[in-house]
Parts: sequence; structure tokens; C-alpha cells
Amino acid sequence: MTLTTETITNTIEAHGGELINREVSDLLKKELLAESKSLSAITLNPWSLSDLELIAIGGFSPLTGFMNEADYTNVVEDLHLSNGLVWSIPITLPVTEDKAKQLEIGTRVALYGEDDHLYGVLELEEKYTYDKEKEAQHVYGTTDVDHPGVKKVYEKGSVYLAGPIYLLDRPKHDDFVDYHLDPAETRQLFNDLNWKTVVGFQTRNPVHRAHEYIQKAALESVDGLLLNPLVGETKSDDIPAAVRMESYEVILKNYYPENKARLVIYPAAMRYAGPREAILHATVRKNYGCTHFIVGRDHAGVGDYYGTYEAQELITKYEAELGIQILKFEHAFYCKTCENMATAKTCPHDASSHLHLSGTKVREKLKNGESLPKAFSRPEVAEVLIKGLQEK
Ligand code: ADX
Repeated sequence: MTLTTETITNTIEAHGGELINREVSDLLKKELLAESKSLSAITLNPWSLSDLELIAIGGFSPLTGFMNEADYTNVVEDLHLSNGLVWSIPITLPVTEDKAKQLEIGTRVALYGEDDHLYGVLELEEKYTYDKEKEAQHVYGTTDVDHPGVKKVYEKGSVYLAGPIYLLDRPKHDDFVDYHLDPAETRQLFNDLNWKTVVGFQTRNPVHRAHEYIQKAALESVDGLLLNPLVGETKSDDIPAAVRMESYEVILKNYYPENKARLVIYPAAMRYAGPREAILHATVRKNYGCTHFIVGRDHAGVGDYYGTYEAQELITKYEAELGIQILKFEHAFYCKTCENMATAKTCPHDASSHLHLSGTKVREKLKNGESLPKAFSRPEVAEVLIKGLQEK
């Protein structure tokens, strides 16, 4: 679907000023399909395929392709692209050294998925090696291979390919067709709903009571909520996206006003890069047309690698440059004395009254076959999760 900018009145600009669209027209697709048979080819893993998609649909605007060495180095060392625009996570296309040797700069490379489907084409402008330890330390704040994002860095090919891309076909999201909108389409949706201010919410977990509390607190001062769960690659003990999607449907249906919240997938891979990823998440939601973005406790964190408010502290430094308003929330919990969700800002009782909630705790309980107390999760959500995980 192509939308002209005139039809979109949602007020927030895409990052860098232009919403990128690298999906080719039918005509160009035909040409590239014919040409692809004579091109060198590589196979993208699901992570790279999701990056390809996000570049093409404008989620990663202003990127038009995989990062070259100048952008990569600037992003790793200084959280900016070489044109000075804030950007926190490298978006790169790794291949093995052997593969890289077979590819010639100045040619096009066909990009296949693991299903052998041709998804895109890369104009190969550069190949470069990189320092994995440096990337891990700067981006993830650690070189510990037990960190799931760092592990990926060490596993991937040692050469990055760079250049603009074209998307010929979108990866299919069969489980989520009703919720698969591009940034241009979410902007149109907000416009149709007459939402001038929209808060974006990133999650890789089912919506538990703390999430609901901070979303609704945000909704008190904006027009609408974009519940934008990440459905790309996650670590194996996270709850599968298909199960989570069903849980989002039931919570929205039962506990949110119909005209105030919309569910749309975010088809990215999870990096678990904590503070740096919070910045990426906010940047992408700006491209989707959100004017506000929630960063709560330990955003995009894993284990004990990041401090509870480290993501908030880092994003605060870049908030003005990012151009999206960050709504920061304290660690929320259920207080048995208040009989309510609360934070240290709103509750005077001591820890013995507090029930702390987190996606990790929810997963633990589900794994142990324990039911989820109402203070943890809405019963409808718990039911979907228990059923979904048992079926798995
Ligand atoms: S993640 O993508 O950031 O890893 P997660 O589902 O854990 O997803 O959290 C989604 C958002 O809710 C993040 O902004 C996170 O900081 C916030 N959050 C999660 N739990 C709490 C909590 N108990 N109190 C406050 N914020 C929370």
C-alpha cells in the first residue's frame, strides 16, 4: 500500500525527516527477479531478514540499507550516524569471510531467506571486518558470552556487507496478518482515529499488571496507545509471539476502551541491549508515528547486566535529539495494603506489602505450572498463557 504524504497529517516527523520505503514497484520487481538468477546470492537468517524488512518499510528510517563502516563505527563509538543523527544500535549484514570473498563490490547481491525465497537485493557498496569485542562492549556494555545479544555477536560472520537494499517480497507473518501494519499505515491509522498524541509501548512479554498500570497512566495524558510487541527472534525461554498475541487480544478486549488502543506487531529481533536498545525502540516508534514512548524499569534488559534505571538515564541524554517524548516510569508493583498497583512515588508502605511483578516471574510461574495470581496477571491473560504453553 502506498500512501502519499498529503494523506498523512500525523504530526511527528520520521527520524531524519523522511519515512523510507524500499519496497519495489511491480515493474522493478519483475526486472530484479529476472536479474536475480545471474546474481551472487546469500541466505539471511531470521534476524537479518527482519532487519531487511524494517529498513524497507521505514521502521529504521533514515536507513536505506545495511550500515557502511563509517556509520557503523560512529554508531558503536558515539551513538550517531556519520551525518550526525542519533542512532544507538548497528544495523549490519554479517557474512562469513569465505562468503564475502565471493562477492564483488559494485554488484548486486540476491538476498534469500532460509526458506529459499528471494526477499531482496543489496547494492553491495562495501565489505568490512569489525572488532567483535569492541561491538559487544560498546553496544551491550559487556563481553560476557552468556549475554544473549553478545552471544549472537560472537556467533555471526566476521564481515559486514553494506549498501542500499530493495525489498521484493515481505516476510510473511501468517500468525499476525491482522496486526501487520507499516509505519506509513500506523500513521494513517492514528490519523483516522484522530489521535494527535500516541504513546508507543514495546514489549517482549505478555502484558502483566505493571505494564497495564504504566500504559494506562500514560493514556491519561495522550490520545492513544500503540501496543507494539516485538515478534521477531527472541531467546528461547521467552513466551512465543503467537501465544503472546492471543494474550494481547484478550487484555485489550476486556480491559481497554476500544477507541484508545491498537495492537500492531514490531517485526524486529530482540537484542537485549538494555539502554542502547531503548533508544532504538524509541526511534522506531517515532517512525511508526508515536509522539511518546514508555521506558520503565530495566527496559530491554536481561539478567543483571543493566541497572534498573540505566535505560532511562541513557535515553534522557538523547531525548531532545530523538524528538520523541520519553515517558519514564518507576518500578511498579502491587501493594497489598493500598490494594492497588503503585510505585515508590505513590505508595507509603514497606516492602512486606509489595508484590513485585515481572515478565521473568510470570514465565517462571508458568513453567512450574503455577497459576498466576490476579495481582500478577488478568485471569483472561493467564488462561491464554497456560493453554498456549501447554499446547506447546
Ligand atoms: S522489553 O522489551 O523492554 O524487554 P518488557 O516486556 O520486559 O519488554 O517491558 C516492557 C516495558 O515495560 C519496558 O519499558 C519496561 O521497562 C517496562 N516494565 C516492565 N515491567 C515493569 C515494572 N514492573 N515496572 C515498571 N516498568 C516495567
